[in-house]
Parts: sequence; structure tokens; C-alpha cells
Amino acid sequence: MSQGGDRTMSDMNEAEDRVIAPVPRITIQAFCETPDVAASIQAAAEDRRMQKAQLKVLMGGAPAAVEAYRHSPTPNVIVLESHGDRFALLALLDQLSEVCDGGTKVMVVGHVNDVILYRELMRRGVSEYIIAPVAVLDIVRSISELFSGPGADPVGRTVAVVGAKGGVGASTVAHNLSWAMARQLSVSTVVVDLDIAFGTAGLDFNQDPPQGIAEAIFAPERLDANLVDRLLSRCSDNLSLLAAPAMLERTTDLVETALDGLLDILRSSVPCIVLDVPHAWTAWVRRTLIGADEIVIVAAPELASLRNAKNLYDTLRQARPNDRKPKILLNQVGVPKRPEIAAAEFAKALGTDISASLPFDAQLFGTAANNGQMIAEVQASGKIAEAFKDLGGAITGRAEPRRSKGNLLEPILARLARRKAS
Ligand SMILES: Nc1ncnc2c1ncn2[C@@H]1O[C@H](COP(=O)(O)OP(=O)(O)O)[C@@H](O)[C@H]1O
Ligand SMILES: [Mg+2]
Repeated sequence: MSQGGDRTMSDMNEAEDRVIAPVPRITIQAFCETPDVAASIQAAAEDRRMQKAQLKVLMGGAPAAVEAYRHSPTPNVIVLESHGDRFALLALLDQLSEVCDGGTKVMVVGHVNDVILYRELMRRGVSEYIIAPVAVLDIVRSISELFSGPGADPVGRTVAVVGAKGGVGASTVAHNLSWAMARQLSVSTVVVDLDIAFGTAGLDFNQDPPQGIAEAIFAPERLDANLVDRLLSRCSDNLSLLAAPAMLERTTDLVETALDGLLDILRSSVPCIVLDVPHAWTAWVRRTLIGADEIVIVAAPELASLRNAKNLYDTLRQARPNDRKPKILLNQVGVPKRPEIAAAEFAKALGTDISASLPFDAQLFGTAANNGQMIAEVQASGKIAEAFKDLGGAITGRAEPRRSKGNLLEPILARLARRKAS
């Protein structure tokens, strides 16, 4: 540290970069036009605050982006460099908005200080416009502020998966759903095994981490983002696991707010958090379900599941009247010789749609469970793997076939409405 008033340049940089919050576990893709900007963005990827983010730098600018996202989901952040004229860029952004997933943020690196362009970009929902030449820290700071500035949306959404009864396959669904979101829909996802004493997520993902959720909830005074980071074990690209210890030394009659700190930390750093909720009705389970952004209730097509699913559905609807309805997933449909309740009847009794029906397939699910694999890894092109992907798409807003949506779309709809009115 320097003494008194004569701060050196490096002190100032240090002081400046201390205020940049670490970038969450997001995906970023940059489409550059000049080697200089590409090099700066590549260097930004190496910055310590970008450690958790996945950043890919490509060339070709906005036209390449439009082309790329016709067929693949958009990342959390798209960075576009534009050298060309204003009208070409705006036209390309309009095209991009048609293929942009909800929640994707767009940042533009331009080469001119153009107020009209700036205004038009903001009108189209572009989050940030910075002017080249760009310093590495400017890029890190701009991306960081998309998620940490005042008024920034929370990064993560929680998806709670719970069974109407024990053994209906809720955990199996939670694990396969998180795998589909991470691998097939490219959303960075953490799956949290809340079945603290008996959970099977570690087995299902063939992971045996020495530490997991117990360290996060039984020692709340030590809990912070770094600890949570260390407790996660990596299952595959974009997918991490907070495993249950599956030990019986401690009981799981936790206080109601026991998970609050952990979930807050995960929400601020991971786009998608899948909660594998045990079939229980403790205060902390109820709180977790009511507080989730999305709920999936897994039920088998029989009477006890129906009764419990209806009770759960009604209770949760009442507690969260302004949220999306819990999704109902029927699992283990078609067990040989078992009398079953038809999906239509099930739906009628609950007063809602059935989001998906998965067949009973002892061979397939048994093989996956025994091998510590996901269904899509055992049978990549089957209907069941497809169903998990569709459910993931419906939850993340990355459903196929692709529909136009997202923050970039609103200005276009507004313009169409204006055109109609005039
Ligand atoms: N559709 C299915 N067909 C056959 N077996 C299934 C199916 N879904 C789940 N299983 C099996 O049922 C058992 C219980 O599943 P699990 O996900 O642990 O249920 P829960 O979490 O609801 O208690 C596991 O052995 C799993 O492999
Ligand atoms: Mg379970």
C-alpha cells in the first residue's frame, strides 16, 4: 500500500477492481468483428471474477449470432461487436430478438459514440453499449453489473421437484430434468439433494463427494459463496451437484429457515437450481416448496398419489396465487397388471393439465440407476429422454419449437401495435 495521497496507478486499479462483483455461473458468447475486441474479451474470460462463467469468443459479429441461434439456445449473455452502420445493426438485432430465449441479455460493443444508436439499442432491450477500444476490466465490469447492479434480476430460478408419495420417482425426475437442462438446453444448473439422510443424487450421478449439503446447513456461521462453491461436485458440462451425505448421525428436523441462506447464495450465482425435495411435510419442506420459482409434483397413476397430489396442488396454489401453477408429472404409468387411473381423470380431479406422462420401464430406469447414469445416457433417442428435455424447455423457457420471446421482443410488438393503430 502506498502512504498518504500519492496513490500509484496499480493501487488505483486495485481499488477500482475491488468493487466488481464476481460474475455468476452463467454462459456468455461473444461475436466479434475485430481482433482487438476479440482479444480483450478473451482476456476478460481469464479474469478471476469470471472464473465461474463460461465465455466463448467467436468472430462474425451480429450476422454470425443470428445464424448461430437459429438452431441452438441462446446463452445468458450475448456480446455483439459492431463496426458497421447503425441500420444494419438494428435490423440484425430485430432478427436476433426472434430467436432469443427469455432472459438472455445482449451487450453491444460499438466503435462510434452515437447517441441515436444508443437510444435505439436501449429501446430494443439491449442491456449495455460500450465503445471500443475496450479495456479488459471494462468488459468484466459491464458483464458483472448486468447481474449485480441495483435493480438487476436475480440470476437463478429454483425448480422444486417433489413426489406425491414416496417412491414415485421424484428424485429420478429431478436428476434427469437437471441433466436435460444442463446438457441439452445449455443452462448452468445445480441439483441440490434435499433428502439429506437418504438421498440418491450422488448414486444417480455416480459421484461420491466427501462433502455436500450437510456442511452448508449444519454450520450456518461458515456459510458463504466460497464454501458453497467448494461443496459442489461437477457432474458434467454445466451441471453440478450438492449431494446429500446419506448419513444418520444427524436428524433432519431442521428449523423452518434452515435452507434460506444456502438458497440465497445459489440464487445469486447459478441460473437454474433444481431441488430434489423429499416426500415429507416439515416446515422447511413446505417453505422450500412455497418459495420455489417452479414446482413439479410427481405422481403415480393411483389413488394415494391422486389424493396427495391434489392436496399438495391446492395448498401450493393457495399459498402462491400469483405464480405459475405447479406442473403435474405422471410417472410409472403402465405397471403390468396394475389397475391405474387414466391421465385424463387424474387431470380432471386436480383441475389442471398433466405436463407429461412417463411410462413404467423397469429395465431402462433400473439400468440407469444401477450404472449411475441418466436415462438419456442409456437411451439417447428415446421418448423418455425427449420428455425430460421438453419439461426442461417448458421450465427454462427454451422450449422447442422455438417461439419468439424475450426482452428483445417487446419493442417489436409495441412497434407492430403502433403501426396497426396508425
Ligand atoms: N418410470 C419408471 N419406471 C421404472 N422405474 C422407475 C421409474 N421412475 C422411477 N423408477 C424407479 O423407482 C425407484 C424410486 O425412484 P425415486 O426417484 O428414488 O423416487 P422418489 O424420489 O419419489 O422416492 C427408483 O428405483 C427408480 O429407478
Ligand atoms: Mg426422492
